[in-house]
Amino acid sequence: MEKQEMTKLERANFGSRLGVILATAGSAVGLGNVWRFPYMAGENGGAVFIIIYVACVLLLGIPCMISEFIIGRHGQCNTARAFYKLAEGNGWSLIGYMGVLTGFLITGYYAVVAGWCIQYVWASLAGYMTGSPDYFQQYFNEFSADPVKPVLWTVVILAITYLIIEHGVRNGIERASKAMMPTLFLLLLVIVVASCMLPDANKGIEFLFYPDFSKINSDVFLAALGQSFYSLSIAMGCLCTYASYFSKQTNLTKSAIQIGVIDSIVAILAGLMIFPAAFSVGVSPDSGPSLIFITLPNVFSQAFASMPVLGYIISLLFFVLLSLAALTSLMSLHEVSTAFFQEELDISRKKAALIVTVATAIIGAICSLSLGAVDTTLTFLGETLFDWFDFITGQIFLPMVGFLTCIFIGWFVPHKVVRDEFTNQGTLRGQFFHFYLFMVKYVCPLGILFIFLHQLGLLN
Ligand code: PHE
Repeated sequence: MEKQEMTKLERANFGSRLGVILATAGSAVGLGNVWRFPYMAGENGGAVFIIIYVACVLLLGIPCMISEFIIGRHGQCNTARAFYKLAEGNGWSLIGYMGVLTGFLITGYYAVVAGWCIQYVWASLAGYMTGSPDYFQQYFNEFSADPVKPVLWTVVILAITYLIIEHGVRNGIERASKAMMPTLFLLLLVIVVASCMLPDANKGIEFLFYPDFSKINSDVFLAALGQSFYSLSIAMGCLCTYASYFSKQTNLTKSAIQIGVIDSIVAILAGLMIFPAAFSVGVSPDSGPSLIFITLPNVFSQAFASMPVLGYIISLLFFVLLSLAALTSLMSLHEVSTAFFQEELDISRKKAALIVTVATAIIGAICSLSLGAVDTTLTFLGETLFDWFDFITGQIFLPMVGFLTCIFIGWFVPHKVVRDEFTNQGTLRGQFFHFYLFMVKYVCPLGILFIFLHQLGLLN
């Protein structure tokens, strides 16, 4: 009883500025940085795309991120309640619940892919990551359609997440992020160096950075915008939940910019890890799960064929890196629902985390099984449940929650409240406040609306 009283009075928080940045950047840096960004950059005009992307992050992504930070830190509670507090209980409270639901649904599905990464760490260790292109294709097809193994790995990664989350914000999330993020960065640099030293690596670098203005059109713009939102973990409750653990002194604008910059650097470095190796062996890279689980193992195995030990190490490091990136994102997704259940049901953190782990493991297992193990019963309108989760969360809920959050902050929350959070109760100058408000009121909602219509094929 006493303990519960205490948790109500003293909300958990991150212990340091570095903790804030690394944990939140950990949420942002994920599979999206590796499996989508590099390919999109290469296909859509190289350096020009990268400039557009960074502009989207700075001008649209960061204002949205700051808005979620404002709501979360103001509320000092889970996402649903944080919106409820600001909305004073009216209909706008629903956005918070939608954010939690989106985060919850995506946790199970993200855990499946994170589980695959761990399986591939194991496969690399055991020396299975060498062979012909057909071998990698077949390996992945057989593995992902297996009824037991992927489900088992989904449970394993969720159990690891549980063990971290259960230790709390400072001893769990913050400590794990401080260990994992620098390791991830180091691994990335090692692989980038190895990849860029391969013969003909410059062709890959050129593919990534060659500015081709002719490829720029509205599609590219919207694709960059959509990718920047996903990559920054916007509209899933993660940023809002983490911000509820920020201290009153945390400079929200500065933190958002730092996180956006780290996320973009990792995405660009991921391109420098992938393309030089792929071009060196003449394989054309693609995107999505097939890039990381079929194309790249093959690329690494071929590129380092003359130095098999190096090939073995690079493949292993690559999957460790992916697992770390996926795990830090998964932690933030898990925390959204854990904080929600803990506070709304008034139960211990351990119990809440356990409920979330079991429930998302069930969702994950169903998604995983829909990929082939029991395909006829787990498809709907010809698509697997896995694809449905991806579509509903990423393409419907994400833009909807993002759009409504901007409208809510820009038009309904009193500007004084927004300003006070933005300037840490007037202790910061807040010279960008008017710019921020303008973006959130007009530009961000319109931008998100366009992405939404574009993704649904209603706008070309
Ligand atoms: N930002 C993560 C990535 O780039 C994905 C993610 C989205 C994670 C939303 C958490 C919440 O992979």
